Amino acid sequence: MRIKTPKESLTVLTDLVLPGETNYLDNLFGGELLARMDRACSIAARRHSRRIVVTASVNHVAFSKSVPVGSVVTVEAKVSRAFTSSMEVFVDVWIEDRQSGEKTKVNEGIYTFVAVDETGKPVPVSKLEPETELEKTRYDGALRRKQLSLILSGRMQPNDATELKALFE
Ligand SMILES: CC(C)(COP(=O)(O)OP(=O)(O)OC[C@H]1O[C@@H](n2cnc3c(N)ncnc32)[C@H](O)[C@@H]1OP(=O)(O)O)[C@@H](O)C(=O)NCCC(=O)NCCS
Repeated sequence: MRIKTPKESLTVLTDLVLPGETNYLDNLFGGELLARMDRACSIAARRHSRRIVVTASVNHVAFSKSVPVGSVVTVEAKVSRAFTSSMEVFVDVWIEDRQSGEKTKVNEGIYTFVAVDETGKPVPVSKLEPETELEKTRYDGALRRKQLSLILSGRMQPNDATELKALFE
């Protein structure tokens, strides 16, 4: 399979925040934002693998700033590393000022998707080669985050987490 770059999976979704999507403070409801992030990440994983993909885990989400009703929200997702059948996908969320157009980052997340066949069985995906400094940093940390996610989901024993142990040696 051809080695791919992160930009080949880049997925950008831009949409408004409507009144029906907000909480009591008239800010975007967290679950609605998570759905948009999941959708963008799923498309990015699909673009990388060209297979059916399923969300295996949401490894990290930080709601650093609230998103007021009426905001224009842009969700940008890119595969940061591909393993055998799984892919780590980084997603960054921005809002833009109505008058100046200036963008502010409000949220980020890290998802894991798995490529599967029609029966739901995991299948191999292309390797990924990072290009930019940020892509290389995200790539380098991905195995550590995968091991942490596997420990938290009870799929790996802490003693087998070589990357995590190396942090303390
Ligand atoms: C994710 C899923 C396909 C894994 O299937 P499985 O038969 O357990 O397969 P494996 O154990 O071989 O895992 C497949 C890959 O997923 C990775 N994986 C599984 N769970 C993971 C987790 N919690 N965090 C990180 N990676 C995970 C494995 O490490 C493996 O990666 P690799 O092939 O790149 O090394 C299966 O659990 C599933 O279908 N889950 C439901 C998905 C779903 O419906 N999502 C939508 C939720 S509404």
